[in-house]
Amino acid sequence: MSKVLIINSSIKGEGSVSRALVESYKADLVKADPKTTFIENDLGVTPLPVLSASNINGFFGNVGESVEASQLAETVEARVSELEAADLIVIGAPMYNFGMSALLKTWFDYVLRSGRTFRYTEAGPEGLVKGKKAVVIETRDGFYSEGDAKAFDHQEGHIRTLLGFIGITDVTFVRSEKMAFGPDAKAAAIEGATKALSELAAAA
Ligand SMILES: Cc1cc2nc3c(=O)[nH]c(=O)nc-3n(C[C@H](O)[C@H](O)[C@H](O)COP(=O)(O)O)c2cc1C
Repeated sequence: MSKVLIINSSIKGEGSVSRALVESYKADLVKADPKTTFIENDLGVTPLPVLSASNINGFFGNVGESVEASQLAETVEARVSELEAADLIVIGAPMYNFGMSALLKTWFDYVLRSGRTFRYTEAGPEGLVKGKKAVVIETRDGFYSEGDAKAFDHQEGHIRTLLGFIGITDVTFVRSEKMAFGPDAKAAAIEGATKALSELAAAA
């Protein structure tokens, strides 16, 4: 039985392709193992408060009298605990302005915790979230896998770096691209990603 942490980060509800692909992959995972359990964070519906001067003390554990800092400390702990408890992390990741959604970036701001999910040693940084897999489902209107626009893809490398930094190095990226290249291209992209996800679930 595996525990799956689902992170959705589209600002769209209905019509979100990443959300639909995440749902399809969830069904594939259940088909492969009916005992699979899920914990879900829908950052589009319930965004995490961005770190700021009013709550940052909570991030560093100095809650004091501040309700905001205290709430932040609780939320950070909840998000980190969920990550630590999961065997597989599935991220629905739309590309916004060549990078990840700000909603997803905030989630990473919460879970990259010095001394908890990574630490610095004399040999350099070490990720502490070990033995997990991640599947990142990337949705894009454009095409970045090949050609000149590859240089504009600041999404995939950033996500790979952040996951790797905390020790999650077994990461599979599934892309649904060219979705603004016409209805046929969009349908083919979604079909291709859906198939890739089904194969991934069946092979796990
Ligand atoms: C604010 C915003 C910025 C976007 N920036 C890009 C971009 O830089 N490159 C791209 O290919 N698509 C971009 N898109 C298109 C989305 O990546 C595309 O619609 C994708 O399907 C979003 O995932 P979703 O359907 O799950 O919301 C952008 C969309 C929005 C709303």
